[in-house]
Amino acid sequence: MLSNESTGPRRHAPARDRPLLPLLPMQGHTLGKRSAVTCHLKCADACFHPVPNESSNDYFRDIVGAAMSRRSLLVGAGVGAAAILLGSGEPAPAMAVPGGPAGAAGRGLAFAPIAPVPAAVDSFVVPTGYSWNPIIRWGDPLFAATDRFDPEHQSAALQARQFGYNNDYLDIIESKGPKGRSGILVTNHEYTNEGIMFSPALTAVEADEQRRVAMMAHGMSVVALERKHAGQPWTYRVGDPLNRRITASTPFTVTGPAAGSALLKTSADPTGRTVLGTLGNCAGGTTPWGTVLSGEENFNGYFRTNGTSTADARYGLANRPTGRLWEQIDDRFDATVAGNENEPNRFGWIVEIDPEAPNEPPVKHTALGRFKHEGANVIVGKTGHVAAYMGDDERFDYLYKFVSFDRFDKKKGPKARTHNKSLLTRGSLYVARFTGNSPEREITGTGQLPADGLFDGTGQWVALVIDGVCQVPGFSTDDALVNTRLVADAVGATKMDRCEDVEPSPVTGKIYVACTNNTDRGALGQEGATEPNPRVANRDGHIVEITETGSDATSVTFDWNLLLVCGDPATNTSTYFAGFPSEKVSPISCPDNVAFDVQGNLWISTDGAPNTIGYCDGLFKVPLTGPERGRVQQFLSVPREAETCGPVIRSEQSMVYVAVQHPGERGSWAAQSSRFPDYVPLGAPVPAGAWTGPRPSVVQVWKV
Ligand code: FEO
Ligand code: CA
Ligand code: CA
Repeated sequence: MLSNESTGPRRHAPARDRPLLPLLPMQGHTLGKRSAVTCHLKCADACFHPVPNESSNDYFRDIVGAAMSRRSLLVGAGVGAAAILLGSGEPAPAMAVPGGPAGAAGRGLAFAPIAPVPAAVDSFVVPTGYSWNPIIRWGDPLFAATDRFDPEHQSAALQARQFGYNNDYLDIIESKGPKGRSGILVTNHEYTNEGIMFSPALTAVEADEQRRVAMMAHGMSVVALERKHAGQPWTYRVGDPLNRRITASTPFTVTGPAAGSALLKTSADPTGRTVLGTLGNCAGGTTPWGTVLSGEENFNGYFRTNGTSTADARYGLANRPTGRLWEQIDDRFDATVAGNENEPNRFGWIVEIDPEAPNEPPVKHTALGRFKHEGANVIVGKTGHVAAYMGDDERFDYLYKFVSFDRFDKKKGPKARTHNKSLLTRGSLYVARFTGNSPEREITGTGQLPADGLFDGTGQWVALVIDGVCQVPGFSTDDALVNTRLVADAVGATKMDRCEDVEPSPVTGKIYVACTNNTDRGALGQEGATEPNPRVANRDGHIVEITETGSDATSVTFDWNLLLVCGDPATNTSTYFAGFPSEKVSPISCPDNVAFDVQGNLWISTDGAPNTIGYCDGLFKVPLTGPERGRVQQFLSVPREAETCGPVIRSEQSMVYVAVQHPGERGSWAAQSSRFPDYVPLGAPVPAGAWTGPRPSVVQVWKV
C-alpha cells in the first residue's frame, strides 16, 4: 500500500486544562542563535553551561583587537524582506529577491531566489514554478497500515513501528532499477519534543510510557520509495522488506581498536562490544560504497554520571537529573549506578548502517574517535584510501579527519561491499591545526577584511592515532579513541566555532566546513578572534574552504580560506561572500548542513536564523566557481520554529529534498504553534478528526 496521504484518525489538539507533569523543565533563556527550546531539548542547554573546552591550547589566543588596515569589500545596501502575512497557515508565495536575478545564477537548478521569510510565518516556501509535499511524517506507519498515527493514543510499541521524530540527516538513495522508479530513504531522528508530542501526562505511569515512546522516536529510519519515473515525486511503501527502524534500544556492534576496551564494558555488556541504541543522531553521510553514516552528537544530555572525572567535565556529563529523566525507567542512563559507569562512553560515535541489509546489525566505529559527532563524510583519496571528515559541534572544539588503512574496492558486488564496509574499522585519526597567512585575525564591525580581501592560510592534520597506535605521549589508544577531546587538547588543535557538517565536494575535492556560530568567542576568559574564526561574538557563523595538499584527501597538510562570513548584509557589515557584492545575496545565518549538486554548487541549510537575522531557516545555493562564486541564493524556507536539515540536491532531476526538524517547537500540546505539514488555515473550520499540531517530515520539492 502506498501511504503519502494523511493516515489514521485526525484529532483536534485538545484544549485540556489539567496538570502537566513537568517532563522537561525549561530554563527561561533566549539565545542569539538556536532557540531556548532547541537548546534545551537538543543539546541539554550546552550553551548555558561553561564551555567544556578549557584546555590551555593557546595556538590562536591573545588575538583580539588587532586593528589592521583592511579593504572593505562590503556594500551597505541589503536585501529587502518580502511582505508576507504573519501567522498564516497558508503557504506564502515565493517572491523574487529585490535586486536579485530573474533566475538562479550559476549552473544547475534554475530558480528565482525567494525572499527571506519572517520568522513568525508558518509556511513551507519554495520558488515560483516548484511544488512540494511531505514524503513521510512523524508517526507514519512503516510496517503495517494499521499502525496509524494517533497522537491521543500513542504507545512505545506503535512508535517503534512508525517514522520517528525530528528527522535530521537525509539521503534518497536511488536504486539501479528501471527509470529511477525505486529508492531508499534513510534519515536520522535526533531528539524529541515531548511538550508538543504528548497530551500532558496525568500519572507517573503515563509519564513513563511517554518516555518509552520518546526512546522509540529516536534513532534512524530506512524507508522504501517508489515513483512513476525520475523527476516525479516519490511515495513511500508500507511493509517493504527494506523498511527498518533503529531506536534507542537497537543492538549495535562495536568495531575498531577500542572495541572490547575496559572503558566500554558495563555489567550488562562485559564484552564491551555490544551497545543498545543510538542517540542524538544529527548529520551524517552516505559512503561511496552505499552505506549511511550518522553522528551521535549530544549524547551527554541523556546520562547522569558521577561528574567527577576530567572526561566527564570535558564531555558535559554531570551528576544532575537529565532533561528526559530516562534514568528513572532504565538505569543504564544512570551512570552513578555501579556497573553502569561506562555506559556514556558507548555513545558519541560514528555509526554505520547498510540500508540494503535490513537484518545486519548496525555498527559503532571506535577508530573515528568519540566526541559530539555532527556527522561524517567520506571521499576516496588518490591512493585509494578513504578519508572521513568530521566536526565536533561544541563551542571551541575541533575538526577531525580519519584515513583508512585499507583501500577502497571500486568493483561492484557483495565481496567488494563487504570489504568496503570494513574500511572505517582500521586507520588513522587526525585533528586540524590552522595557521594564518596574514596578521589580521578579526573582522571588525566595519566589515574590514585583510588587505588581500581574504582570510586564508595553511594547516596541518595532527596525528592522534596511526593505525591503532596512539601518537600522543601520556595517552593510551583507548584514551585517544574514547576520550578523544582530551588527546586533541594536548596537541594544540585549533578551537573552532562549532563545526557542523564537513563535506568534500565530489567535483573538486575541496572540503567545506560549516562553523555554525560561537557567541562565546572573545567573551571574558575565552579565546578571541582567530584567522579561521575571525569574529568575536560570532552569532551568524561562517564557512571554511579547505584544499588538501596535492588535492589528495589523505594528505597531512592543507591550505584554507574563508568562503562565507554569514549574516544579513543589510544590517551587518562584518559579512563576506567570497568577494561577491552583498546587495545581490540572500541573507544567511547559522550554516549547519551542506550538500552539493552534480554541477558542484554548494548548498547550505541553516539552524538558528529566526533568532539571529529574524527569518525562518532555509536552504541556499552558492556557486563555488566563476563570476557567481559566493552568490548566496535562497531556494526554500521552512515553517515557523523549524530547522532545515539533510539537504539532498538532484538538480539533474530538478528535485530537492530536505528534512524539516522541530517545526513549532515553542508550542505546547494545547497551543501548537505550527501546523506543518498538514496545514489547517488559522480561522478556518477544522475538519472532523484533524490533528492540528506539527509533524517533523521529509519533504520533496520538484519542478512543476
Ligand atoms: Fe545537531 Fe550540530 O547539530
Ligand atoms: Ca546539525
Ligand atoms: Ca551534508
